[in-house]
Amino acid sequence: MRTLVTGAAGFIGSTLVDRLLEEGHQVTGIDNLSAGSPAANLESAHRYQGTGRFSFVAVDVRNPELSDIVAESDPEVVFHLAAQIDVCRSVDDPQYDARNNVLGTINLLEASRRAQVPRIVYAASGGTRYGAPATLPATEDTPVDPLSPYAAAKVAGEFYMRAYAGMYGLAPICLALAKVYGPRQYPHGEPGVVTVFGSAMISGRPTIVYGDGSATRDYVYVDDVVTAFLCAAEAPITTSGIFNIGTGAQTTVTELHQRIAAAVGVSRPADYAEARTGEVHASALDPTGRAGNWAGTRHRPHRRRRTHRQMAARHPRSPPGCTRPGLRGPNAAPHHPRHPVTCAYCRGARTTRSVTALARVDPARGDHPRSPAARDSARRCGTPTTRTGRSTATSRPDHFVDQPPRALGC
Ligand SMILES: NC(=O)c1ccc[n+]([C@@H]2O[C@H](COP(=O)([O-])OP(=O)(O)OC[C@H]3O[C@@H](n4cnc5c(N)ncnc54)[C@H](O)[C@@H]3O)[C@@H](O)[C@H]2O)c1
Repeated sequence: MRTLVTGAAGFIGSTLVDRLLEEGHQVTGIDNLSAGSPAANLESAHRYQGTGRFSFVAVDVRNPELSDIVAESDPEVVFHLAAQIDVCRSVDDPQYDARNNVLGTINLLEASRRAQVPRIVYAASGGTRYGAPATLPATEDTPVDPLSPYAAAKVAGEFYMRAYAGMYGLAPICLALAKVYGPRQYPHGEPGVVTVFGSAMISGRPTIVYGDGSATRDYVYVDDVVTAFLCAAEAPITTSGIFNIGTGAQTTVTELHQRIAAAVGVSRPADYAEARTGEVHASALDPTGRAGNWAGTRHRPHRRRRTHRQMAARHPRSPPGCTRPGLRGPNAAPHHPRHPVTCAYCRGARTTRSVTALARVDPARGDHPRSPAARDSARRCGTPTTRTGRSTATSRPDHFVDQPPRALGC
């Protein structure tokens, strides 16, 4: 499949690029590199350049040249992830946000229409799309209620997709994503709160909770989100519309903080600051509606482990016994013999408790994966489990297949 990915250097975009390449597809990546995404995000993708299966163009999605780029790469599927993603920035500078997220989307739609792209998959914002609904988790039929410029611009993108579907027969699928976390997430700003907390704790910096800590989010792992993008790309062309991609579970900021602190082995409490304007108080997405039972998003403790391993690699602290300066004292985690990580100071193989402790932490539930509760829940959502209670559902869910043609539910 020939594909084009906007926002290809970003957190979700680069993870999607890697998966597409691993699965044998051809990828043209586009990004203006405005988010400061590290070059390492595309390191493995660049290895495919020699094969002719990967090319990267550093360009803004608002640039008029985009038309030629899309036409030349002649994609069968366009994945649109490029966006300004910070709600606070959208409140401070709504025009900047709209230029990127609305005008950029329109320019991409125009380029796609001219190049007769059949399918476009759009990263919509499930966390902000429904505002503050009366009941949670929100289904795709919950009324749209954007409460910030970012939310309004992302919903505008969905409406433009819908308009282009009606006018030109482009088949858009909008994936309303819950709060995504995982390796490569940028540790700045509210969007990456798991990484923000984790990397601050690992490097001994204070953590700040905005508001009283009771705000909730639905946390979904990046690999599951990437799977959803692939499902959407491979869905019958008659399938279009909006699909929630989340877990349905709410986790408060305080709970998230406590679980990461316990996992990392840090006892320092969070500092509290005033809640930020434009952010919704509670959000969770019902994944059992149009997208089917998104069982793949639950009970994968190894995913939290991977995220924290990466954070530990970025923000290492000296384990006990390290001869070079680094973080010590009450925050220094004891070693664990089974999970070595490399100490960046003395380059010796070290271990931290955080890695094993994370095996017991799930931001969405907090259950031990072997607990009867985890097994019951997995049974309820149809996820086959091993005797240890871990999910064995690794294959791609097929709930996009056999979806009747439908209009966007927005
Ligand atoms: N991360 C989440 O929790 C989450 C939740 C819901 C929706 N989304 C959506 O998913 C998409 C990807 O999010 P992410 O977390 O990977 O963010 P990210 O900031 O890591 O990636 C976005 C990428 O887009 C690029 N970009 C921004 N404006 C651009 C422009 N005008 N032209 C070209 N490139 C541009 C940035 O440089 C960045 O590399 C976004 O559309 C976001 O709205 C993310």
